Amino acid sequence: MVDSDQPKCRAVCLISGSGTNLQTIIENINNEMLQIELVSVISDNPKAKGLKRAKREGIDTKIIDYSTYKNRREFDESLEIEMLSINPDLIILAGYMKILNINFCNIFVGRILNIHPSLLPKYKGLNTHQRVIDNSEELHGASVHFVVPELDEGPVIIQYQFEIERHDDRDSLQKKVQQGEYIIYSKAIKWFCEKRLIFDSEKVYLDNKVLLKPSIVMKN
Ligand code: GRF
Repeated sequence: MVDSDQPKCRAVCLISGSGTNLQTIIENINNEMLQIELVSVISDNPKAKGLKRAKREGIDTKIIDYSTYKNRREFDESLEIEMLSINPDLIILAGYMKILNINFCNIFVGRILNIHPSLLPKYKGLNTHQRVIDNSEELHGASVHFVVPELDEGPVIIQYQFEIERHDDRDSLQKKVQQGEYIIYSKAIKWFCEKRLIFDSEKVYLDNKVLLKPSIVMKN
């Protein structure tokens, strides 16, 4: 439990697109499941629908538009400067499509969470649902992990799992995965903000015990 006198966890959300995970996080802040202050939503894409969702809730938004930078280095510097100026307790990647550079990951190590639409370590990268179908997998799901410089490699905290049905296709898998994402992402964020979940850059601790394998939430 969080002591009500404790300052709330200050979080920033990075998005690139639709922002349905962001929307769920906002709803869980509003219904007080999450005791966090979402201080800013930052997008690399000026057209991201998630920006509208944040503005509707009165949350500060910022666009760091990749297409307006001369090169990747200048874009990365701009994001780093913005993040250092906010110095959040937690950075929530919610459909953020740019790979964070090594420097950024090292500065904020232990403070960055990501949600990925597969059962990591399987299916890192993009197009996970189709690859799962192509490989006739029996199980699919989503993973929340701490971010390290290597793409989708950070330690996994919690996973949502379900059995793939014969009639499932890419779209139905995407819907099922996203429903699970909404559940597990807020759980992990809650643990983090209650200081129950810690990553010291080597090991993950949950409730003072080393987390050796992810918590599993099965679809009903
Ligand atoms: C999610 O499926 C997440 O797994 C992936 O990007 C998607 C973002 O969706 N990283 P949304 O923008 O939250 O709707």
